Amino acid sequence: MKQKLESMNENDRITKSKEIAAYLYKTEKWIKSKCIGITVSRKFELDTLPIIKKAWSEGKTVCVPKCYSREKNMEFRELRSFDELENVYMDLYEPSLNKTEVCASNKIDLLIVPGLVFDSAGFRIGYGGGYYDRYLQHYNGSTVSLAYSFQTEKQLPREEFDIPVEHIITELGHFK
Ligand SMILES: Nc1ncnc2c1ncn2[C@@H]1O[C@H](COP(=O)(O)OP(=O)(O)OP(=O)(O)O)[C@@H](O)[C@H]1O
Ligand SMILES: [Mg+2]
Repeated sequence: MKQKLESMNENDRITKSKEIAAYLYKTEKWIKSKCIGITVSRKFELDTLPIIKKAWSEGKTVCVPKCYSREKNMEFRELRSFDELENVYMDLYEPSLNKTEVCASNKIDLLIVPGLVFDSAGFRIGYGGGYYDRYLQHYNGSTVSLAYSFQTEKQLPREEFDIPVEHIITELGHFK
């Protein structure tokens, strides 16, 4: 799936990302949300930068993850501008510790959960760090995942620590 994502052409990536985002903006969860948690997309991932800008334009608070690989956990920090990001690894950007503040998980009312593959029950295969599975254990707000339709499967293997997302949106509309 990573190879498939990496081999997608740029036009396709941008067009489908826009279509998916357009569905997201129409959901009640998006409309009602005041504070969203969202990743800063890497080159081969669904483009989240327009979504972040849209959230800012609507007056929403935007929080992005900062991962701690030693502890295998992450926190969300409030991002007010892309200048508050720093490049931590290859094309991976995270909020700068000096420029941003932590956002408590109970402040986030909509979390956009990333992943590589999703099934119709909302289970997913992520990047294998278990960061989101750990975070979701203590998170009580809404969850939605955004994916290209080729990232969906009928059923994926699950493990006891996997936590499903509430909704999945693809360029074809609502998958879950
Ligand atoms: N709630 C948890 N508590 C402790 N360890 C966990 C928890 N959830 C997952 N893990 C550990 O993390 C490892 C990776 O989990 P998994 O393969 O589900 O990652 P993932 O879902 O792809 O990653 P992510 O959640 O970051 O998207 C697992 O092997 C497991 O040992
Ligand atoms: Mg998992």
